[in-house]
Amino acid sequence: MAQPVLHVADEGRQPRPLQGGRARLSRRMAHDRGAEAGRAGARLNWCMRTGGNIYFLAKIGATDGLSFQQMAGSMTGMTEEEYRDMMIKGGRSPEGNRYLGEDGDAQPQHQPQGAAGKNKEPDSMAKISASFYTSHVPAIGAAIDLKKTGEAYWQPLFAGYEYSKEWMKENTPDVIFLVYNDHATAFSLDMIPTFAIGTAAEFMPADEGYGPRPVPKVIGHPELASHIAQSVIQDDFDLTIVNKMEVDHGLTVPLSLMFGEPDAWPCKVIPFAVNVVQYPVPSGRRCFQLGQAIRKAVACFDDDIKVQIWGTGGMSHQLQGARAGLLNREWDNAFLDRLIADPAGLSEVPHIEYVREAGSEGIELVMWLIARGAMSDIQGGPAPTVKHRFYHIPASNTAVGHLILENN
Ligand code: DHB
Ligand code: FE
Repeated sequence: MAQPVLHVADEGRQPRPLQGGRARLSRRMAHDRGAEAGRAGARLNWCMRTGGNIYFLAKIGATDGLSFQQMAGSMTGMTEEEYRDMMIKGGRSPEGNRYLGEDGDAQPQHQPQGAAGKNKEPDSMAKISASFYTSHVPAIGAAIDLKKTGEAYWQPLFAGYEYSKEWMKENTPDVIFLVYNDHATAFSLDMIPTFAIGTAAEFMPADEGYGPRPVPKVIGHPELASHIAQSVIQDDFDLTIVNKMEVDHGLTVPLSLMFGEPDAWPCKVIPFAVNVVQYPVPSGRRCFQLGQAIRKAVACFDDDIKVQIWGTGGMSHQLQGARAGLLNREWDNAFLDRLIADPAGLSEVPHIEYVREAGSEGIELVMWLIARGAMSDIQGGPAPTVKHRFYHIPASNTAVGHLILENN
């Protein structure tokens, strides 16, 4: 009786059932896959440099719909056809054996991926242009959706965002990296990721009990999000990677505040959810350090795009218990002062102070430290410019704070 075949080490051929499938691919699809393979190859090369091995990476490539020939070819500077021909003819020639030492031909500078990986002009990499901070009170979203922004109660609040809306028209980024907390909407107590990055192509607005808000779906940036996940996880931050998620008011209200009621949001958005709902929540210090890791990740994304990082939630508010309705104008404004001028010192403030001074939901403010940590002055660059600062009490139960810091 034949033994079951557990594994056939044959990189040159597709497994049989797939081979038939591949043969049926239209020429156009095959062509598109070739172009796709080039882009994905660059990403896989980056994964290799940061410690991936080819069999693990093959799984990522397969998820992207690439054949092994496309993946291995792209990682060794060959086309799919060249790689396949080489393997059919018996594999890599012993002539081609590479040696690493001295000035051997396996040195990165002699390899095609080395050339691709050479330092690019700083101008051609992604950049964080500004950080942006705002409360995300759901009633603000309802006021916009129900056309109440001109009412006496709401008018002073929306007036505080007028400058920012104009500024944003001039400074629309390609991508917003939007730090917010999920309010037990996408994640219940079944599963509580401390930090979750949305790597999907799109995210639908969630139904939080009143039907989904009438706002556009959020278009993500899977490539940049995956790149950030890869880089930040290698920098010791354990992110949860989320490929399917609905987004709640924490994310959609800030977008509505800035962009009104468009048919489509004017840029891509990477949702980044932080658990500040269920203890234990991350410290301000950890959030601040995470922001620095995010900045580093964005700065080595090989595309000339402008990224803004938004921190949302807060300021002082408590929605439940004996202290419901708590607001603290003084503490909030000191927080804004320190966020601008002493973020490292501010990041040392313990949870208990947020809760005591800013209420049980005021802890949302730790998320602002992620955005602040991603600014260039934290890495020795010049101080950011304060483009706008606004504080207003109240919106619903909450003190509303807003800040725009531009990188210099
Ligand atoms: C309110 C504020 C929030 O940040 C939130 O998530 C829910 C409600 C409020 O003030 O009503
Ligand atoms: Fe909230």
